[in-house]
Amino acid sequence: MTKTSLRRGAAKAFLLASTLFAFGSPSLGQDADEDEFEGLVAGPGQEEVLIYCSACHSTRIVQQQGLSRDEWAETLEWMVEDQGMSEIEEPDLTLILDYLAKNYNIDRPNFPAN
Ligand code: HEC
Repeated sequence: MTKTSLRRGAAKAFLLASTLFAFGSPSLGQDADEDEFEGLVAGPGQEEVLIYCSACHSTRIVQQQGLSRDEWAETLEWMVEDQGMSEIEEPDLTLILDYLAKNYNIDRPNFPAN
């Protein structure tokens, strides 16, 4: 092996190590998770809310509401009747209402900071 190829090898190893470090960084991983669900709180129904509700608008406007379960049910009826949302079938409907009533209720336990 010549001196030049040794040096190239070392440079490659360094690049690989820094790439692995960047991907392995825990803060990067967390940001990716949050982005994936638009900041929706983790829990049963999180994925369904993202799928159904982000079709037309950001789920930020969902997260910014603080509603009771009945008010959430009314909001979803309003989405269907006036905003063109397809009716959500069971068991997803209950899952979504439970999720919203638990995480985005009148106490606003997860009101987004921004
Ligand atoms: C077919 C499109 C569509 C889908 C799907 C949809 N929305 Fe909406 N939504 C709208 C539109 C359009 C508005 C704006 C209505 C307005 O302000 O006149 C809106 C507004 C809202 C608002 C704001 C209400 C307010 O008082 O400002 C909330 C909360 C909301 N949607 C919740 C949901 C939730 C929860 C879901 C999922 C279960 C959902 N939406 C799915 C179309 C949709």
